[in-house]
Amino acid sequence: MQQVRAVVAKAKGAPVEVVTINVPDPGPGEAVVKIQACGVCHTDLHYREGGINDEFPFLLGHEAAGIVEAVGPDVTGVAPGDFVVLNWRAVCGECRACKRGDLHYCFNTHNATQKMTLEDGTELSPALGIGAFAEKTLVAAGQCTKVDPEARPAAVGLLGCGVMAGIGAAINTGAVTRGKSVAVIGCGGVGVAAIAGSALAGASPIIAVDIDAKKLEVAKKMGATHTVDSSKTDPVEEIARIAAETYPGADGADVVIEAVGRPETWKQAFYARDLAGTVVLVGVPTPDMKLPDLPLIDVFGRGGALKSSWYGDCLPSRDFPMLVDLYTQGRLDLDAFVSEEIGIEDIEAAFDKMHSGDVLRSVVLMDGGN
Ligand code: APR
Ligand code: ZN
Ligand code: ZN
Repeated sequence: MQQVRAVVAKAKGAPVEVVTINVPDPGPGEAVVKIQACGVCHTDLHYREGGINDEFPFLLGHEAAGIVEAVGPDVTGVAPGDFVVLNWRAVCGECRACKRGDLHYCFNTHNATQKMTLEDGTELSPALGIGAFAEKTLVAAGQCTKVDPEARPAAVGLLGCGVMAGIGAAINTGAVTRGKSVAVIGCGGVGVAAIAGSALAGASPIIAVDIDAKKLEVAKKMGATHTVDSSKTDPVEEIARIAAETYPGADGADVVIEAVGRPETWKQAFYARDLAGTVVLVGVPTPDMKLPDLPLIDVFGRGGALKSSWYGDCLPSRDFPMLVDLYTQGRLDLDAFVSEEIGIEDIEAAFDKMHSGDVLRSVVLMDGGN
């Protein structure tokens, strides 16, 4: 067991605190990772607001990169010294989804078996089974994905959650390729990542939609060919008009990605896709939200696919190293997602900045992780 500094949310709505926690030595199937960088995600804020569940205290942080310090006796996939990006879907290989070959749907992903605790022994609930706003954290070895050690931790750690969700929503769930038109509704970190993923796949046009002009500027830098301010213009008509410039006769985009998580924007996505197109929902709705009123004939008549994207339908072992390589080759600008580098004490301030619209990601650097 060892003691490290970490960021904990102790009670619903209370500001987070930097405290000392106990990290057990890794047991079978586990690894202890020395964290270098960890992004601040909306989900961390949702945990501390009590919006995920009531299992306080939470050890926050889950978009991280670091170095494996120690592994349990039976671990062969990673070794001390490996540079890894942490994932929150370590596939089991044995559930019905894994057995039929759909590993990215694994219904029984796992985390560390032992518990990290506060100094008084109170068990911590690590955010998404990771808990990486900590100098070190204990995870399942399968949550560690080895990537190119030359990569910058603050940038590639973001693949651990929101950036992967967005890129994967486009490439994996939406099957975006060259020769297709794409629209992305909502250009926060997730939406902009979907735009970057669509650009990587060679799609054109890539239409960015948001109600905030600042977000549309960022979207352009990340590969959007067109922008639509949906507070001023009807996005459904505008997407169809732009798609038809490239594909005459098109009545919308081939793939429309909803990255807000609201019924009204999902409805826009539904009507902004071309015949037989695909809608991808990657924004996460709240439990009270209902599907918009929709004639069933429109669902049938438009054909195609209405899909949800969990974690970008990613397979960390396949997608993380590949995306890190594209980053180191200069083909995927993950640095652009890092709006600021902050210290472990600055997380409350980073939560406040999320609402300002100026920040894609604040990234906490631990122990000189740059
Ligand atoms: N129409 C278009 N864009 C909108 C609308 C709307 N009605 N309402 C909000 N937006 C835009 C915001 O201006 C912002 O740019 O959606 C974007 C949301 O971005 P962020 O708040 O930064 O959220 P992000 O991290 O990108 O996550 C988006 O995906 O993973 C989920 O839980 C996450 O539901 C959230 C979504
Ligand atoms: Zn499984
Ligand atoms: Zn996240």
